[in-house]
Amino acid sequence: MEHIITVVGIGPGSPDYLLPVAYRTIKNATVLVGSKRALDAFATDTVNKKVIDGDIEGVIAFIKDHLLTDDVVVMVSGDPGFYSMLGALKARFLKSQITVIPGISSAQLAYARIGEVWQDSLLTSLHGREQHSDSLKYEVNKKLGILTDGVNNPQRIAQRLIALGWPEDSHVWLCEYLSYENERIIPTTLKETTSIDGFSHCVMVVTA
Ligand SMILES: C[S@@+](CC[C@H](N)C(=O)[O-])C[C@H]1O[C@@H](n2cnc3c(N)ncnc32)[C@H](O)[C@@H]1O
Repeated sequence: MEHIITVVGIGPGSPDYLLPVAYRTIKNATVLVGSKRALDAFATDTVNKKVIDGDIEGVIAFIKDHLLTDDVVVMVSGDPGFYSMLGALKARFLKSQITVIPGISSAQLAYARIGEVWQDSLLTSLHGREQHSDSLKYEVNKKLGILTDGVNNPQRIAQRLIALGWPEDSHVWLCEYLSYENERIIPTTLKETTSIDGFSHCVMVVTA
């Protein structure tokens, strides 16, 4: 029998935002891969586990090895279809070997919290990656939802957007630790964001 990889979206963090099917799949896993935080939260003492760290090739090798004898469950934050390890897995395994269970994305929760629709947004990530300036340029009625990190933090992104023609008084929401007890959401403007510290790993929503 061919064993499979199930890539499970675990949502933004709090178990309140984890789908029951995702929870069941994780609890039934015999081989579990995920961030340290996810493994601390969900791994049982008996499960065979591997932390997703900087060594992605090591993680892939672990999965390949265990697939010979077992199914493997890979936990990713948010939704697997939105900037997760799913891309790297698809590049290395057959489509028939991968099943995906969706999760609530941090971007989805951010838009829900601020009561905005996201169907008309450009959703992208500057977390560990770059984005061509053309797609970020200001246009009337444009809306952006951006995942940030310590390098591409809101302060730096705000400076870049202003240089790309966005009005300084454009509305910004910085949403961090979504779903956690210390969740923090601040409404502000692009100009003010250029001098705001912190919010390194957040969802930054920008509307003109
Ligand atoms: C590698 S991406 C993963 C995105 C994930 N697949 C999703 O659908 O949310 C990591 C980035 O997602 C955002 N993120 C993930 N969880 C978050 C949360 N609970 N609150 C705010 N932002 C979060 C941050 O921008 C973080 O740098």
